[in-house]
Amino acid sequence: MSAVTALRWQDGALDLLDQRRLPTEQLWIRCVSAGEVADAIRDMVVRGAPAIGIAAAYGAALAARDAVVAAGDAWREAIQADLARLRAARPTAVNLAWALDRMARQFADIAGDPEPALLAAARAIHDEDVAANHAMAAHGAALITPGSRVLTHCNTGALATGGHGTALGVIRTAHAQGRIAEVFVDETRPWLQGARLTAWELQQEGIPARLVVDGAAAWLFARLRPAWLIVGADRIAANGDTANKIGTYTAALAARAHGAKVMVVAPLSTFDPATPDGAAIEVEERPAQELTQLAGQPVAPAGFAAWNPVFDVTPAALIDAIICEHGVIERPDAARMAAFLRSVAR
Ligand code: MRU
Repeated sequence: MSAVTALRWQDGALDLLDQRRLPTEQLWIRCVSAGEVADAIRDMVVRGAPAIGIAAAYGAALAARDAVVAAGDAWREAIQADLARLRAARPTAVNLAWALDRMARQFADIAGDPEPALLAAARAIHDEDVAANHAMAAHGAALITPGSRVLTHCNTGALATGGHGTALGVIRTAHAQGRIAEVFVDETRPWLQGARLTAWELQQEGIPARLVVDGAAAWLFARLRPAWLIVGADRIAANGDTANKIGTYTAALAARAHGAKVMVVAPLSTFDPATPDGAAIEVEERPAQELTQLAGQPVAPAGFAAWNPVFDVTPAALIDAIICEHGVIERPDAARMAAFLRSVAR
């Protein structure tokens, strides 16, 4: 069990571990309003699809507190602006909208002060995410042959979720079961979630791992033969097309070209059956300075333009298995995804 925590509710506020400062500094930021939570999500203090959903859920509880102060019994109307601000903080990870929709469904049943009821709902989302991660870890680890090397991209660990992690949760559990010989960790430009966050989580648990540049994927699969690329997701469309951190698609192509397999690990809160395919997923683009500067230092000529999509979409045809808390969808396509979702809805 990982001791790392990205977010905690304490003394009536949401505390977030500032992930921009890891691994050199562990600094907690206190959010006392929904606006502060929205800013923290936008500015990458907290990141990772499930973690931003959980943060937004606690943000809705904070929004309710302010809405009651501002409007009393009319809090349901007064809260809407804060909910919209939270929803708009980042566009690609569907967990954010999923969590806020789930919180809003509580409103009709609340009589009196909404904050305790919404706080309980946020805690439930948080706890369920941890449970889902452990269930996914068991499903995913079972697919990995003992002694395997694996590649992972971005950070999908305890920092990106309520705890344990999605793809990194599978890797943690598989390592505990003796299935992992070595983990390769993509740096994950430009925010370096792999180098700063995944490496930090793996090092704390003594899991054997080496860092590689994102561009090494094809050569890594050719030379050191990892058996799996194991990644998380920000949104999985109805046909299995999967949005995840930029560079995932490249790594999946490299895996397929060299006979390795691709595993996507994500809770149902990341599935978006209302989006038919990857072409319909909004991919966040962030400022050019994230590419033209590194830690505030220029690494490109002043004023040079950049295209900075921070996610890509891996076509379902490149994915061998999607793991969620309810089981495994092998070789996903629209029909298999729909059949799986029907079976878990029963
Ligand atoms: O920009 P980020 O750091 O929020 O991107 C995170 C990812 O792409 C993760 O792989 C994804 O959210 C899954 S986290 C369990």
